[in-house]
Amino acid sequence: MLAPVIAIVISYLIGSVSFSILFARWLRKIDIRQHGSGNAGATNTLRVLGKGPALSVFALDIAKGAVAVWIGHLLSDADASWVPVACGLASIAGHNWPVFFRFRGGKGIATTIGAMICLAPLPVVIAGVIAIASIALTRYVSLGSMIFAVLVPVILLIAGCDAAVLWGAIVVAVLAVLRHRKNIVKLMNGTENKLGGKKGEPH
Ligand code: G3P
Repeated sequence: MLAPVIAIVISYLIGSVSFSILFARWLRKIDIRQHGSGNAGATNTLRVLGKGPALSVFALDIAKGAVAVWIGHLLSDADASWVPVACGLASIAGHNWPVFFRFRGGKGIATTIGAMICLAPLPVVIAGVIAIASIALTRYVSLGSMIFAVLVPVILLIAGCDAAVLWGAIVVAVLAVLRHRKNIVKLMNGTENKLGGKKGEPH
């Protein structure tokens, strides 16, 4: 039982390394949580720091989730499928509530992509394509993020999968929607930030 606990704790600590906060600190000596949407994630990095740093943050945040699931596999028996799932969840929790940054982090979508692509590759690819299409169509990253997070368990439910993975995906989806509460309000009143917003429109 000790190995899974260690794996989960390590995963939470890995998730807590908030790359958007670090890049903003290194490149501009600012706290990204006081700029743009205030979110410590890749989308807000794009707004505040530009494309290069945003892509790096996105890739590194994805890697956090993938590494956590890998650690879960490494430190558990082959039949204990809940351990990699718990490690994925722990990394997302770390990203959202990072112990190194006063528990104020991001919304966990990139880390979710990293964790879930290791646990359920095909559903993640399908949900990802639909999410990207919705972002291209509406330019609302938040909407695409929520569509992605909710679609994964729906696809898993239809296709059938390991119970631990399904429950993990459900928890992730609920978490993602809850983390986007403010975005939902803004989407409803038409003030949500758009990707690459023009002057005069929220971005
Ligand atoms: O993954 C975060 C994204 O869905 C929304 O980010 O900064 O527009 O609130 P932001």
